[in-house]
Amino acid sequence: MSKLVPPHGGDSLKPLLLPEVERREELKRAASLKKIPMTSRETSDVIMLAMGAYTPLDGFMNKADWKGVCADMKLASGLFWPIPITLSADQKLADSIGVGEEAALVDGETGEIMGIIEVSEKYTIDRDFENSHVYRTTDPKHPGVAKVNEQAAVNIAGRVRALSEGVYPEKYKDLYLRPAESRAVFAEKGWSKVAAFQTRNPMHRSHEHLAKIAVEVTDGVFIHQVLGKLKEGDIPAEVRTEAIGAMIDNYFVPGTVIQAGYPIEMRYAGPREALIHALIRQNFGCSHLIVGRDHAGVGDYYGPFDAQHIFDELWPGALVTQALKIDITFFCTKCYGMATAKTCPHGKEHQINISGTKQREMLSKGEPIPPEFSRPEVVEILRKYYAGLSK
Ligand code: ADX
Repeated sequence: MSKLVPPHGGDSLKPLLLPEVERREELKRAASLKKIPMTSRETSDVIMLAMGAYTPLDGFMNKADWKGVCADMKLASGLFWPIPITLSADQKLADSIGVGEEAALVDGETGEIMGIIEVSEKYTIDRDFENSHVYRTTDPKHPGVAKVNEQAAVNIAGRVRALSEGVYPEKYKDLYLRPAESRAVFAEKGWSKVAAFQTRNPMHRSHEHLAKIAVEVTDGVFIHQVLGKLKEGDIPAEVRTEAIGAMIDNYFVPGTVIQAGYPIEMRYAGPREALIHALIRQNFGCSHLIVGRDHAGVGDYYGPFDAQHIFDELWPGALVTQALKIDITFFCTKCYGMATAKTCPHGKEHQINISGTKQREMLSKGEPIPPEFSRPEVVEILRKYYAGLSK
């Protein structure tokens, strides 16, 4: 019996990637089907389905699921789900594909066939309804809202059989762990209480402190980063993983953390995204998700602790994986160490507040980054990247 948390909604993971032998045959067949070109977000969702990260979904959501998820964070079955996972096509293409028909799902950027969908429903959505519930705003400047607004006219629902995980398994060889694989790694290490640390940034001292607090109270920490598309100005995954590697090698006890990545594309939905981050980590076998300040937020759309409070609004049993809520972490020049308002009695004038955004700004202006802010080994890697950019 596994000591790990069960996958969401049941006892077993549901990766939708077909076994390799079947994949070859199906790829040939898919080439003759009508093709639905996908946005980067839709392609990323197919890969998330392929690897089992969206267990127990079996494909793209129908209207009843979409509506329930937006309004009540529930699929039509009643199962907790906080963010719609949908596919869209333009009117002409949608009209040409009948319900019951199969179509090939194609990565709109590379042209690669990623899977086959068996179309069960075609429907239109109220974008403002989705945006106001999921993103808590209809401001078109919000990057998640902008993507919903750019979606094609008709949503296409149906079961998906995935045929590829794109570049991820090759490009991120040591980082790309599927939920079944992370579970096997945790089981082998004898871990059952595992905290996931979600990040899209190279880790600065505040991030390091959060992970270390979690190391103190769990069996181990899964440093789990976004490998999918980010917004402009975010540091690319290759640079970030190198920087995180340098931090782990120099500042963590060997064996206490595992670095991995997953192919999600950020939606920047703040509180709702924190919930899906927890749900996904449950599938990866993590009992906890670290939720700090403005988790998965962008700009000033969310309050600093909205992503923590939303976990208190869930009904019993909605999620097994719990939020490990941690206050804002900072460097206190009087304590001379990392702290939070719970552990440091000194005034704000002693606090060095650390954020990924501020660090990116300082790096792009070539300003020095003090060791209280980021580890020198990390800064060195980031500097090289920014130097390359300015050339
Ligand atoms: S994101 O996916 O949430 O956008 P990011 O790298 O910005 O990733 O943050 C990773 C985690 O660290 C999140 O849980 C976030 O709330 C937390 N975090 C970042 N900076 C701080 C800070 N100074 N204090 C507390 N938590 C923080």
